[in-house]
Amino acid sequence: MSSPGAGKGGGARIEVLISEADLAARVRALGEHITRDYAGRSLVVVGVLKGSFIFLADLVRAIDLPLSVDFIGITSYQGTTTTGVVKITSDLGRPIDGKDVLLVEDIVDTGLTMRYLLDNLATRAPASLKVCALLEKPSRARVTIPIDYRGFVIGDEFVVGYGLDWDGRMRNLPYVGVPRS
Ligand code: IMP
Ligand code: MG
Repeated sequence: MSSPGAGKGGGARIEVLISEADLAARVRALGEHITRDYAGRSLVVVGVLKGSFIFLADLVRAIDLPLSVDFIGITSYQGTTTTGVVKITSDLGRPIDGKDVLLVEDIVDTGLTMRYLLDNLATRAPASLKVCALLEKPSRARVTIPIDYRGFVIGDEFVVGYGLDWDGRMRNLPYVGVPRS
């Protein structure tokens, strides 16, 4: 067990990259943009587990439309990430044929996970399929992903918090930060 008081960062020093206030303002703006773009329609918001869960929870409350929420769980195989080998560990609860689908992801890094998911979901004949990513690391892109709604562009740094983890931890930091040793 970690020592009492080690806190959400487990004792590691975390440098704040995007503050809680900046996240809240950006998520609000994304929600307003999505609300305008889909006016008169309803949405299926699909979160990619696990990293998107906090972003998604805030985002859907900023969208003023009828919507439903579903999740898809995936693992990307380290070692073979260059081939984009991704496996669905938990599929959607409902079919998406004929639905307007918004795929919500924490971060697009190499883009291989998103490429796989977009190709997979497209075979299910949604009426439309768009991507909303909180973060994008363009310097690491191996494939080009059409990101329709983007929170922040960041540099080539490993980030944690607001849903993003470091070996399963630090998802509960309320900001996005960079662990420093
Ligand atoms: P991609 O397939 O390389 O685009 O990576 C996608 C997944 O890797 C993301 O959904 C994250 O779960 C994870 N990931 C990539 N970069 C980071 C990071 O800086 N911090 C935490 N997780 C990351
Ligand atoms: Mg992820």
